[in-house]
Amino acid sequence: AVNAKGCPASEMAAQFDPFEGPYLVDPAEALRWSRDQLPVFYSPKLGYWVVSRYDDIKAVFRDPILFSPKNVLEKITPPTKEAVEVLRGYDYAMDRTMVNEDEPAHMARRRALIDHFLPERLERQQEMVRQLTRERIDAFIDSGRVELIDAMLYEVPLLVALHFLGVPEDEIATLRTFSLAHSVNTWGKPTPEQQVQVAHDVGRFWQYAGEVIEKMRAETAGDGWMHYTIRKNAEMPEIVTDSYVHSMMMAIIVAAHETTSLASANMFKTLLSHRSAWEDICADPSLIPNAVEECLRYAGSIVAWRRQTTGPATVGGVDLPEGAKLLIVQASGNQDERHFENADRFDIYRDNAVDHLTFGYGAHQCMGKNIGRMEMRIFLEEMTRRLPHLRLAEQEFSYMPSTSFRGPDRLWVEWDPALNPERDDH
Ligand code: HEM
Repeated sequence: AVNAKGCPASEMAAQFDPFEGPYLVDPAEALRWSRDQLPVFYSPKLGYWVVSRYDDIKAVFRDPILFSPKNVLEKITPPTKEAVEVLRGYDYAMDRTMVNEDEPAHMARRRALIDHFLPERLERQQEMVRQLTRERIDAFIDSGRVELIDAMLYEVPLLVALHFLGVPEDEIATLRTFSLAHSVNTWGKPTPEQQVQVAHDVGRFWQYAGEVIEKMRAETAGDGWMHYTIRKNAEMPEIVTDSYVHSMMMAIIVAAHETTSLASANMFKTLLSHRSAWEDICADPSLIPNAVEECLRYAGSIVAWRRQTTGPATVGGVDLPEGAKLLIVQASGNQDERHFENADRFDIYRDNAVDHLTFGYGAHQCMGKNIGRMEMRIFLEEMTRRLPHLRLAEQEFSYMPSTSFRGPDRLWVEWDPALNPERDDH
């Protein structure tokens, strides 16, 4: 098969690199050739089989036994000897959490810990999210120009996550460094020099997680999800194990807020560059929930996830050996013509937008999906009401090299404060 530029598909597969070039700019577009010509291919640069079509990705998600999630938090760039040494110095022992746990341990644990995510509990979080959002907007609404991630989209999801988990809010600045390090360590491509710095930050993050758990053990009546987890650890230590509690303490901080911050940044960028969609939701806020789904489909924050075969398997007609590592690219599945009509068109009226794979699928599907959705909805409700004349500023967008986490590093927006609707209210 030959792609548009005359380069055979096998050559495209050999060149595939998720850490630079087209994949960073637009992962769905970067794999269009694969969806059309070679939907399951081996990437020699990565050592992974890449899966790009919607149905194949869903089939992999659907079978957590044959396609184990055990490699989900592995360092995708192998650590240097120095980095391993540094981590050892911190007694680093990150292991299974929820997302990378095999059955049957995973389901027993998920069942034991899911109550906190039930809709009636989330209801109570809404006012807090709205309050935090309003305070941030109050702080910049008269300025006319702001970098939205620093001003709102980073810290609000972080505070919401810490509150939901019950983790103290006194280390916000450090947590940003830690989260970034964990993300680069797991899904990025640090240079050998960066590996050492990242290993120090990850090691400190590990120790910090241990200290927070000790503090939380003393607060026996605490209401957060991690308090609840710690109580379950005492009640059923063979299901909610000690190792799980420590590993999860570290992983969840990133899972809960980095994902949501990036998705929200992608959402504002996408809507503001599709002006009529933005104007439609300003005029009719009831369109917001489906617009959020379409943003998660078209520009999600988790663009690829991992699995590893536990026996010989067939994906999309391709035979894979036992132990094959898979990179399943949800961003590509989300723009697969075979499932979504005019898949590369952004359309907030799309009736199957919610079929997107950004939250995964099946046994491990994101437990926090309704928290993420709620935050994104509230951001849009508040911003469209108070700043309908918002626009993207002229800027170049940059993205951190990562197989999996995606969102612009910065998002500058501007508006004319003289035209703020609330100025007319007085
Ligand atoms: C799992 C994405 C927000 C907690 C996952 C998975 C993905 C994901 C792709 C793996 C799914 C699979 O293997 O099938 C996202 C995105 C978010 C988000 C895109 C925001 C837009 C959150 C939040 C929380 C959270 C806010 C918690 C407050 C979890 C947990 C799991 C998970 C606990 C593991 C579930 C399991 O393995 O059973 N998420 N997530 N996530 N997420 Fe999220």
